[in-house]
Amino acid sequence: MLKPAVGSWGRLLSKINDREAAEAILEHKEVLGSYHHSIFYIQEYIHKPLRDIRAFVVGGETIAAIYRASEHWITNTARGGKASNCPITPEIDDICVRASKAVGGGVVAIDVFEDPERGLLINEVNYTMEFRNSIAPTGVDIPGKVADFCLRVGRDGWAAANGWRNGGPAAHPVSLTSGVAQGRDYFLVVYQPRSFGLAH
Ligand SMILES: Nc1ncnc2c1ncn2[C@@H]1O[C@H](COP(=O)(O)OP(=O)(O)O)[C@@H](O)[C@H]1O
Ligand SMILES: [Mg+2]
Repeated sequence: MLKPAVGSWGRLLSKINDREAAEAILEHKEVLGSYHHSIFYIQEYIHKPLRDIRAFVVGGETIAAIYRASEHWITNTARGGKASNCPITPEIDDICVRASKAVGGGVVAIDVFEDPERGLLINEVNYTMEFRNSIAPTGVDIPGKVADFCLRVGRDGWAAANGWRNGGPAAHPVSLTSGVAQGRDYFLVVYQPRSFGLAH
């Protein structure tokens, strides 16, 4: 997979099936793109089922999740993926809460793949989450939960609002542009030095 370092709605993703495709895409990116596109973000292709999971973590809690089903390997709802409720299992909750904490908490939407051998893998953590298509299938008042979280931050501070005892991770809240995890122990992220508005 070759992806833009900062992407959305499943745009500009390339599934590279052979060397010639890789050479062509790399040349196009280098010659035609802005300097952003000369940062090559390379990721292993995951043989997920015809769906992925989009989970919403707000203040250290997995509040809702949907399956995004598609015949195409790109499952974004903006690209035709069909949303349905995904029960939040302890495994989904655990990996999503840890991924959220790894990037400083807050309000994030996490893409999770079900790898046939390795189980749940984090594909990316979105810090500007969209939830329009997820309220009806899950029945969860996502914007209400976000508003409640903001009020908690104002009242109790960032660490408490995220449910962290002992102040939580040392790092200040940061926003994440893209992430990938292989297995459950290893998390590789690209950070942007931008804090959430209410973090401080
Ligand atoms: N490494 C991968 N293996 C399999 N499918 C992928 C992979 N990366 C992305 N996809 C598919 O493409 C979709 C969009 O990719 P993503 O990295 O989430 O970019 P965006 O920021 O545009 O949502 C994912 O939800 C998934 O369906
Ligand atoms: Mg995504």
